[in-house]
Amino acid sequence: MSCEKRYLLGRRDGGEDGVLYVGRYLALDGSQGAGVYLDVLKPHAALICGKRGYGKSYTMGVIIEEFARLPLAIRKNFCVIVVDTMGVFACMKGWEGIRVFAPPAHRREGALPLEIPSCSLSFYDYCELLGIEPLSEHGADLMGAMDNGPFEVEGLVKRVKPGSTLSGLLRMVASWGLFSGSATFDALLKPGSISILDLSGYGHEPRIRSAIVASLARALYDIRVEARRAENGKREKPLVWLLIDEAHMFMDGDTRAGRVLTNEWLRQGRQPGLSLVLATQRPSALGKEVLSQADVIVCHRLTLRDDLEALESARPTYVKEPIQEAMARLGAGRGAAIVVDDTTESCHVIKIRPRESEHGGGEPVVYLD
Ligand SMILES: Nc1ncnc2c1ncn2[C@@H]1O[C@H](COP(=O)(O)OP(=O)(O)O)[C@@H](O)[C@H]1O
Ligand SMILES: [Mg+2]
Repeated sequence: MSCEKRYLLGRRDGGEDGVLYVGRYLALDGSQGAGVYLDVLKPHAALICGKRGYGKSYTMGVIIEEFARLPLAIRKNFCVIVVDTMGVFACMKGWEGIRVFAPPAHRREGALPLEIPSCSLSFYDYCELLGIEPLSEHGADLMGAMDNGPFEVEGLVKRVKPGSTLSGLLRMVASWGLFSGSATFDALLKPGSISILDLSGYGHEPRIRSAIVASLARALYDIRVEARRAENGKREKPLVWLLIDEAHMFMDGDTRAGRVLTNEWLRQGRQPGLSLVLATQRPSALGKEVLSQADVIVCHRLTLRDDLEALESARPTYVKEPIQEAMARLGAGRGAAIVVDDTTESCHVIKIRPRESEHGGGEPVVYLD
């Protein structure tokens, strides 16, 4: 790597440590040139976008592989947590020590149990999860039951009117075994660890997924803010890289998860050392704030007008070429992307490097007999 020309995204001065190799510069004639690397020594907010099937999850997989390959001296500063909504990263289990966690109700062989500490759910989280209005009769009953909390869901069941709708809803939540008073996020915060959270079992349950991500993101934020204050040359709690595939599932509209990711992670995450990598096929659904807060944007092929316009309106002045014109240079092949990097104020067309571990996101083939 030393003599080779290279592009380093997210870092102005050089240095060879703490970089992820993501791909190669793609020339107009389709030939590949200098290597393209991403800095991880500083916190970043990266957005990977592109239409379905053009390489978002694949690119996220490359980033995960590169984290797994970092030398331990650097890697132990971080923990990497991947929110896997479609179950496409679960097949990386065991690769370079990568662990997979899944909720008890949907745990496949070899996955570790993912339990959410009940104390990390607020009154408003419960309202969103149960689909009740905070300022309603049910809301008032729940608030009364949570007085002097936090309570385990089972405890709340006992404190609301027996036989009521609210009691039924709380019983249902308790039956999932997802929230537990004794659970902690400690396993995910192991220095140097890479944890895939397989939430694919909740494919039809946006509220449950949102509750998991909201409580996790908030807890990690609080832990890092607290740890940052106490840090004095020694790191008790690792810096966090949170990777979320299909991020529009959490950030489209006003959800608890979307709010914590935008307000705490994107706006204030750098200081406590929180990095976010979001992948989405609908950048327009994430809102202007997300596009403007991202310091690295990797954009695979996009064709929907709304999405192109969202990116175009967020185009920084140093990118001279309109996004749609730059997009034409990607061709129809998969894995090519435009990369806009705020730190070096530059824009490149790159080809993401081939994966080494299995990619679980491909389309199924039709068997002919
Ligand atoms: N950088 C790449 N190199 C080679 N093939 C790729 C690359 N990116 C994507 N592909 C191919 O495209 C398919 C779809 O990519 P995927 O990342 O799953 O799409 P999506 O954008 O929907 O997440 C993959 O299964 C793979 O075959
Ligand atoms: Mg995908």
